[in-house]
Amino acid sequence: MLRDLFINFNIFAKKINLNTMYNLLKGKKGIITGALDENSIAWKVAQTAHQEGASFVLTNAPVALRMGKIKELAEQCQTIVIPADATSEEDLKNLYEKSMEHLGGKVDFVLHSIGMSPNVRKNRAYNDLNYTWFQQSLDISGLSFHKMMQVGEKTDAFNDYASIVALTYIAAQRVFPDYSDMAQAKSLLESIARSYGYVLGKSKRIRVNTVSQSPTPTTAGTGISGFDAFLSYADQMSPLGNASAQECADYIITLFSDLTRRVTMQNLFHDGGFSAVGVTQEIMDLVLKSNNQ
Ligand code: NAI
Repeated sequence: MLRDLFINFNIFAKKINLNTMYNLLKGKKGIITGALDENSIAWKVAQTAHQEGASFVLTNAPVALRMGKIKELAEQCQTIVIPADATSEEDLKNLYEKSMEHLGGKVDFVLHSIGMSPNVRKNRAYNDLNYTWFQQSLDISGLSFHKMMQVGEKTDAFNDYASIVALTYIAAQRVFPDYSDMAQAKSLLESIARSYGYVLGKSKRIRVNTVSQSPTPTTAGTGISGFDAFLSYADQMSPLGNASAQECADYIITLFSDLTRRVTMQNLFHDGGFSAVGVTQEIMDLVLKSNNQ
């Protein structure tokens, strides 16, 4: 009896869409890159965009599709996965064409959630970098953002008033030694957001922004050496504490929505206040204590 009531309630909830939070993306179509596993920021963005009524295509590099769990996510979100190496213009062209075919029209939002540095992966010191790898870091983590927009424009894949977001990190502005050549890749990414935001804003009223996220325990994040200690340091330095992957996804949904139509060419810090803090009272107290010992 109770079980039947529960089942009926669930059917009813689905019918009237009770699981949807605000319907912020109702009717919008998009492309989401970078969902590798359930820790990925893009994974949370996909789940939340689905809840908010969007339809979208998932994509990742062919090698990541073999290793990751993206098919599981695609089932949850009732969508398909189109493989694309974000450094390949040919793959990106195929991605846009197939996405428009699947979604039945042009896209309203794109998430660039892609980062990789062979130098970081292989723990190369900043004064002993491999330059072929350095170029790969720039290509995968920075230039691919330009390619996504240029190929998207050339395939006429963007609707007017679309919103394009890429994820970045504060090492683009300040030194975090273990971030190595990814710091340059993120500076490049943020600069591309401004320059391309100007072009797409003028021509199609399209917004382009970067979201500068707190350190987050994902595959890319934990690949940086000393990540755990740094995670805790950033948390203590942020008045609101570190922002989680889910909170980042929630913020990105607002940027995809119609509530932020005049926000463009910005690097938006989503970091619990970390970027605006010089020092905290707790750190001052620690220093004073050790000076007095
Ligand atoms: P993740 O490891 O889950 O995602 C990175 C994604 O990039 C993976 O899905 C990977 O397959 C994809 N990728 C790598 N090379 C690619 C290529 N050639 N073509 C297409 N996709 C490729 O980690 P996370 O943290 O979710 O990373 C997403 C974004 O967030 C990255 O841009 C990262 O730099 C950024 N970010 C992460 C922070 C963190 O602490 N985790 C902090 C601030 C920004």
